[in-house]
Amino acid sequence: MKSSTAFLAAVLPSVAFGLISDKMKAKGKLYWGSALDPNTIAITQIANIAATGDFGCFTPENSGKWDATEPARGQFNFTGFDALVSFATSHGKLVRGHTLVWHSQLPAWVSAIGDAATLTSVIQNHVSTVMGRHKGQILAWDVVNEVFNDDGTFRNSVFFNLLGENFIDIAFKAARQADPNAKLFINDFNLDGPGKKIDAMVALIGRLKSRGVPIDGVGTQSHLILGQVGGVAGSIQRLATTGLQVAITELDVRIPKPVTAATLQQQQTDFNTVTKACLAVPQCVGITSWGVSDKTSWVDSTFPTFDSPLLFDDNFQKKPAYTGVDSALN
Ligand code: XIL
Repeated sequence: MKSSTAFLAAVLPSVAFGLISDKMKAKGKLYWGSALDPNTIAITQIANIAATGDFGCFTPENSGKWDATEPARGQFNFTGFDALVSFATSHGKLVRGHTLVWHSQLPAWVSAIGDAATLTSVIQNHVSTVMGRHKGQILAWDVVNEVFNDDGTFRNSVFFNLLGENFIDIAFKAARQADPNAKLFINDFNLDGPGKKIDAMVALIGRLKSRGVPIDGVGTQSHLILGQVGGVAGSIQRLATTGLQVAITELDVRIPKPVTAATLQQQQTDFNTVTKACLAVPQCVGITSWGVSDKTSWVDSTFPTFDSPLLFDDNFQKKPAYTGVDSALN
């Protein structure tokens, strides 16, 4: 008999040994990613998992947002964002930038701007300075985030109120100039099934393209609820009809409390379904889950009646959800 390695290689499919981001790449995708930031890198178990082939791309969970990067006009702070980029690049991982123009985590000084000309130059300066910081090192940026209400109308924000839809054009044009190599995305939530919001997104992308606005991709956040993932495959296909790249940018599947063995099993099925939905569409470039471990997920504070939305549990162990992803990739 040959070595035990040769024996194993003969009886098991070769991919069975891989980790999930590596397996995504083997399927022609760019990565499986995670939200990460200095606060979570500081947890040794999370940093160790993040360094493995399970994760190939990181999104700054908070450190790239306006309140972190430009808390006062013209005064930039890249402490957190620099640390995230440095962790990623030193481990050979990609970075998705997040996010430049968003109504939330926006400093009061921006919301207080009262005229279109000032706001235009403030957007342009913010985009060029933040994207310029790590120019050439960022795979993709969420240039604008959450511009729509759930009924498909534009959200009220200082941006829409002063500039109308044109704020999106202004942001993307500034973004292309700032880092021509970065893929430029529009990103939103509740695009996970048919309805007015995804209709509005597809229509907007059509208008942006017809105006020559430089846009490369659409991100669907995919903050999902257990058992409610049946629309995801259709949504990915629909978003791909725009001709843009598609990314699942903030995936989590939150479980109503109390979490049981049965609901963890359902979560395995749901993660399997979502992974297959991306694999089925060539334009879907990758999936980012919104954190490594349940221990630090935003769900705990944001949706207190839900829990355990990620691939690794509170003790940093792989959950059934991980197996759901893994088996979709085998
Ligand atoms: C969340 C972070 O995970 C939290 O830590 C923070 O307190 C609030 O923002 N949509 C987005 C993300 O685009 O930036 C949000 O991240 C989750 C919803």
